[in-house]
This record gives sequence, structure tokens and C-alpha cells, in this order.
Amino acid sequence: MCGIVGAIAERNVVNILLEGLKRLEYRGYDSAGMALLDKEQQLTRVRRTGKVQELADAIEANPVKAHLGIAHTRWATHGGVTESNAHPHFSSERVAVVHNGIIENYRSLREQLSEQGYRFDSDTDTETIAHQIDAELQHTNDLLQAVQKAVNKFSGAYGTVVMDQHHPDQMVVARSGSPLVIGLGIDENFIASDQLALLPVTRRFIFLEEGDVARITRTSVEVFNQNGQAVERPVHDSDIEHDAGDKGGYRHYMLKEIHEQPIVVRNTLQQRLTEEGVDANVFGANAEELLSQVRHVQIVACGTSYHSGLTAKYWLEEYANVSCGVEIASEFRYRKSYVHPNSLLVTISQSGETADTLAALRLAKDSGYTASLTICNVPGSSLVRESDLAFMTRAGAEIGVASTKAFTTQLTGLMMLTLAIGQYHGLSSEQRQRLIAGLQSLPAKLEETLALSQGIEDLAEEFADKEHSLFLGRGDQYPIAMEGALKLKEISYIHAEAYASGELKHGPLALIDESMPVIVVAPNNELLEKLKSNVEEVRARGGIMYVFADKNAQFESDETMRVINLPHVDPVIAPIVYTLPLQLLSYYVAIIKGTDVDQPRNLAKSVTVE
Ligand code: G6P
Repeated sequence: MCGIVGAIAERNVVNILLEGLKRLEYRGYDSAGMALLDKEQQLTRVRRTGKVQELADAIEANPVKAHLGIAHTRWATHGGVTESNAHPHFSSERVAVVHNGIIENYRSLREQLSEQGYRFDSDTDTETIAHQIDAELQHTNDLLQAVQKAVNKFSGAYGTVVMDQHHPDQMVVARSGSPLVIGLGIDENFIASDQLALLPVTRRFIFLEEGDVARITRTSVEVFNQNGQAVERPVHDSDIEHDAGDKGGYRHYMLKEIHEQPIVVRNTLQQRLTEEGVDANVFGANAEELLSQVRHVQIVACGTSYHSGLTAKYWLEEYANVSCGVEIASEFRYRKSYVHPNSLLVTISQSGETADTLAALRLAKDSGYTASLTICNVPGSSLVRESDLAFMTRAGAEIGVASTKAFTTQLTGLMMLTLAIGQYHGLSSEQRQRLIAGLQSLPAKLEETLALSQGIEDLAEEFADKEHSLFLGRGDQYPIAMEGALKLKEISYIHAEAYASGELKHGPLALIDESMPVIVVAPNNELLEKLKSNVEEVRARGGIMYVFADKNAQFESDETMRVINLPHVDPVIAPIVYTLPLQLLSYYVAIIKGTDVDQPRNLAKSVTVE
């Protein structure tokens, strides 16, 4: 969701804040702002709707210097996209606040604060934080205490950073549900919602824990837990590449991330997959004991991560011989579900902070699951810290809002989970060898598939004027069709629906005509002949098809069908391989349509609100 950066230093912090915001822009990009305090204790606020560049231009036009500052890039939840709703929010022209998340009880707080005489200049929940802290500052001169008292009155999930004109030597930060990380410098310190923002200035980080409130000065960091006790939180040295936030010569992060897939899949496999398979301990200490008991797997996730869960269901039931349920987290968390005996709860998430997925995990804690496991891309994230077991995908920082390499590394991890659980439940040695060989061949097959880029770019021309599209797949390619449809709608704004192709005649066939492109994923698996019949059904109704097919599957291009031949792969890894052409197709269609590929309208990378 929103991005937060703060800095306190001897030097001017304005450019540090701007660079941090640019690096976090993918988290929200409808407005940006910063509050700055200079050595004369003058408080300045600059806010702009639109991208961070608008804010940078405004600052360039009227340069400001500051030794203390907080900054924010917003993804609107409460209140429209206006300058007055942009953060930071002020109270009494002295307290400035930036915030990520939602204060759920803001309406009642707003009423109380209005009765106390506070005037609200925005429609946001965040402004209540600023006024509440100011109200507490009427009873104490200690900013830390004022924040501690204020946060006790808030319900909801938030990460917030506060500065006060009367306390020019500090920022106070509070974490409850939305991540915050303190960056340690030499005689200067920083805060951000994601370490990526601070990589140009430090590599030493303290991850705040739930309920923590911290006071940060230029030379010190004091952390207090939710009971107000002073606590030591460990300092981590980040191993994220400094240029993780760069486009590396590509036109967009999304294209860079698509092309990184062979490498990150290889990284995800490295030292985990051996000739014997996958050691259970790859999933955490004690995993062997826990995974050997598992008879059912319940997967919970959102968005693209949900699609990787749907794919894994096919693998877990076919090879690991355990039953598997997959559910969207926002549904799972609000219904009473039956917990099978010896169930493993698996959450899947790129960010590890998605509010609904995290809520589902917390809900499941006392529900009788044998253990919880997260497949996640961000070390130290909430899902990783709160799950019994964790498997880290090694996708590296994913900046493009439309998830690509996170998805294929999740699938890689889930196939390894299939191997690990399967070894206790009758996975035959032949099947085991097949999965191992499939995984080993993946990086090279992904490389080969990426080489088809040009043909897919040409194909994209035919989509640019379309308003609707249909994606078809069967078996474990059905979730891949769903993911392909999601990608297309996310970044090209073309309406896309996915169907299991066996379902065609139960409704969607009525939609087929020459204005509705039909995209088909057709690996050479045991369902190929059935899929071919479905293709004929579309052809007979005048549909135009785009078929991504195994080169041995014998599809021929003609006037109703464009075929892109993919390298021959064992069908077992086909879902991972066939994802790539669909990503590329969406990317090139979006380029032709001229949309904002990395930051598509209305979306955000990490959804930390419900
Ligand atoms: C957002 C992102 C999607 C992502 C989903 C789940 O909607 O835009 O790309 O798939 O959240 O995020 P997670 O971090 O839990 O995988």
C-alpha cells in the first residue's frame, strides 16, 4: 500500500526522502508529500497529487533544506485523490504524521476530537492520528509518551511516523500490522515501510515488531514493546542488492522481472533440490516431524499468489497423495471452515504482509492445524515471523505491481513442497525422479521460452483494439489461464476471463465471435486431445484463437488460429513454463495501449489493508 520514509541527519535529508519515495512508489502512487523541519525549526509541507516526480518538481522549483523529514506516497483508502488528503497530515501546525494502513475506529475518534475543537482539513483516517497525538501532547511534553497513549486508542492495522516541531531532534514511529524498518546510519538514522527505500543510505536494519513504538534520534534508537517496556531488537545486515530498485536497462521493472525468472528460479532451487529430492528441513527446523504428519493441505492466498496455490493443488493431490483445499484469504477469514485432521495451513504471499492472508493465518492459529507454513518472498515479513515453517522464494525485490517472478518462484517452491510431503505418502521413485528432473530443467526451459519474445510482441498488435478476451486451459493449466487473464486485465485494462476449457459449452461459448480473442495454453499433456476438441468448438463459432502450444502438439497456424510453439517440456513443469508467454503477451499489449505498466491504475503492490 502506501510507502513511508523518514530521516534525521546532520546533512540535508530532502533528496534521501525523494529517492526513498521513488523506490517505494510501486506501493501507491496517487499522491506524495513530505514534511520537513530545518535547523531554525521551521516546519514546511509539500504535497502533490500524482507521481513522486510531481513532488520532486515542486521541491526543485522551491528548494528546501531539512535535517528532519517524513515522506509518503499514497494509495488512497479514505478520501479521494486530492492534495488535502495527501500525507503528511498536520495538527496545530506542529505535529506531522504519515501513515500506512487503516485506523478502523477513526469515525468515533474524529467525533471526539471535533468536540475537543480540532478542525479536520481532510477526509482521511490519518488526520485523526495527528490530532490525537496533539491532544496527548497537551498533557505531556514527551513525544514518545504522547504517541504511546495515542496508539492505545487506535484499532486497525497501521504503521505511522510522527514528528513534532517542538521535538526537532527525533521522530517517533509505531507499528501495528503494517511493517516499518529502522535504517541505521552513522550519526544519522532512517525509517521506512520497506528496506528497499533506504538501500542507498544504509544496509543495517532493525525490523520493528507488532506493537512496537520507537524513538529515533540522529544518534540513538530506543524501541518499546506493546507493554511499553524497553526492548532490544536485533540488527540485520541486508543482503538485498543495492540496485534491486533499478530497472537494469529494461524499459520497465515488469520486463526486467520477467527476464529474471530463469535466474531467480535457479536461485530458489539452489542448495535445496538435490538428486535425492528435497529435504523437509528446507521448510524450517522441525519440518520433518510436522510434514510427515500432514494428510491435508489448506492453501490461503490472494491475487497471483492464489493462482499459484490453485496450481499446487493439482500437484499435491497427484504426487504427494494428500488432499488439498485452496481459498482466497478474504473469503477464508470470514467463514467457518472445516479443519481436516493433520492439516497443514499454507499461506502464499510475495510481500508477506497482505492483510487478508495475515488475518487468515492468525485466525487459523487456534483452529487445530498441525502447523502453518508460508511460501514467501520477503524475509522478516509478518507471515514469515508468524508461521511455524517458512520457505523463502528467492525472487529478489519485485517492483512491478503485476506479479511475475514471484509467481514462478512460488510455483517452484510449491513443487518442492510436493516432493517433501510426497516422500512420506507414497510418492513413487519414478515420480520423484520426474519432478526432480523437471525442476532441474526449469531454468534452461524458461530461457528458451523467453527467446520467443519477438513473436509474442508481434502477436500483441492484434489485441490492442480488443475490449474482451477469454483464456482457456485444462488441468493444472487452468490456473495458469487464470493468471494470464489477471495479468492482461491488470496492466492493459482489457477485460479477460479464464475458463477451464471443458466448461466452454456451459456458457462462455455464447460470447465467442471474431471480436473476442481466445487464448489457449496447450502443453503436450494427457488432456491435449480434449483441449483440441475445445479448440474446434471455438473455431466452429468463428472465434479467433491464439494458441501457446508444445512444439510437438501439432497445432498449425491458419486464418482462425495463430500458434506460438513453445519448447517441449515435461508436462509436469509446463504450468511454470507456460506462464511466461502469457506475461509477455500482457506486457506487450500494455505497451501498445500505452498504459502505465509498472504502476497500473487503481492498484498497489502490497495490500496491507483489508
Ligand atoms: C496485490 C498485488 C498482486 C498480488 C496480491 C497478493 O493485489 O497487486 O500482484 O498478487 O496483492 O499479494 P502477496 O504479496 O500476498 O502475494
